Amino acid sequence: MPLTRKAYRAAILHSIADPAEVGIEASYEYFEDGLLVVENGRISALGHASELLAGLPAGVQVEHFPDALITPGFIDTHIHLPQTGMVGAYGEQLLDWLNTYTFPCESQFADPDHANEVADIFIKELLRNGTTTALVFGSVHPQSVNAFFAAAEKLDLRMIAGKVMMDRNAPDYLTDTAESGYQESKALIERWHGKGRLHYAVTPRFAPTSTPEQLTLAGQLLTEYPDLYMQTHISENLQEIQWVKELFPERKGYLDVYDHYQLLGERSVFAHGVHLCDDECARLAETGSAVAFCPTSNFFLGSGLFNLPMAEKHKLNVGLGTDVGGGTSFSLLQTLNEAYKVMQLQGARLSPFKSLYLATLGGARALRLEDKIGTLHPGTDADFLVLDYHATPLLSYRLKQANSIAETLFVLMTLGDDRTVLQTFAAGQQVHQR
Ligand code: GUN
Ligand code: ZN
Repeated sequence: MPLTRKAYRAAILHSIADPAEVGIEASYEYFEDGLLVVENGRISALGHASELLAGLPAGVQVEHFPDALITPGFIDTHIHLPQTGMVGAYGEQLLDWLNTYTFPCESQFADPDHANEVADIFIKELLRNGTTTALVFGSVHPQSVNAFFAAAEKLDLRMIAGKVMMDRNAPDYLTDTAESGYQESKALIERWHGKGRLHYAVTPRFAPTSTPEQLTLAGQLLTEYPDLYMQTHISENLQEIQWVKELFPERKGYLDVYDHYQLLGERSVFAHGVHLCDDECARLAETGSAVAFCPTSNFFLGSGLFNLPMAEKHKLNVGLGTDVGGGTSFSLLQTLNEAYKVMQLQGARLSPFKSLYLATLGGARALRLEDKIGTLHPGTDADFLVLDYHATPLLSYRLKQANSIAETLFVLMTLGDDRTVLQTFAAGQQVHQR
């Protein structure tokens, strides 16, 4: 294959460590006039334009964005493909919301044509919003995952997804059985896991919708294949937690249900965790599990406020999730806008550099992919964004008053959304242009 090499000149910023561990100043690298060199889908160099331009071989094209910021692509650690058509459904909290809106909407994925149509819309929406990697729930139907992976493969995206396993406490038209859920998941794993940049996630919806037999088989799948992911929901809503207590009276608590069925581990991501206790955070951290913090969803469904300082105290891996359709935006910038408010309501701060970390390197660490995505370090996948300082008149005017990259970054996260994302690149290829 011929060598393809291209360079991008702009202000460039990436997170290189967790501010909670190293302090804010050591957590990022910023090049006011930077250069990012991409070769065959990977980043080959990053630095000051003044230093790198001279050494660039003759003929390498340099694209210049004088009024833009290059960052790594965003990582969404929790989102539902089959809920694309029901974002912003009025009035209910979690359990009624599932029955009233979610299950009927997901049932449409019994039709493969519908699954293909929505997978295209969904992937375009991710890329329009600068999300280059997502951990995705399908519906109970295998075709939801086939449609998603087929569309992601065409663009060589790094994506993780799984078919929902759900064999009780849901309508008949939307349930599998312990055995069929296991077999269908296995077939999807054989077909997609490790193909290109795709990975499979074993996906029991949440404890109330799986029998002990199904949870046992989910755990078994994780032992049968290396490097599989596991995704589910936990401790999102108080009624949900009460229900889990009733369904599993023999277990110490919600997390202990998943622990018992051996679903904790380094590639396990638990969505929400709004009401986790200290001991549960400690156990999640000890097993290397991660939590997806989903602020727009937690506000929208009235679930509660995620305690990020408690997670930090336990050195628990935390990524950011949009949780569309419980969440109200595909934009991780808008998700950070709401995350900031979650902290404000608890008397805490969320610095713009911690926010950048959560949307990029923190998400990559939650997914154990930090050697491939989440930063702009040479050797990693060229998944990156060009964010436009003039995306809207207000953003343009507001940024004129910004005196530091910290302030610029914070304003991007407060006023920014899909309009801010001028271009999205995946494996070095442009996959979105506004
Ligand atoms: N818990 C179980 N299923 C779901 C879901 O689809 N969305 C959210 N937010 N929580 C859940
Ligand atoms: Zn969810």
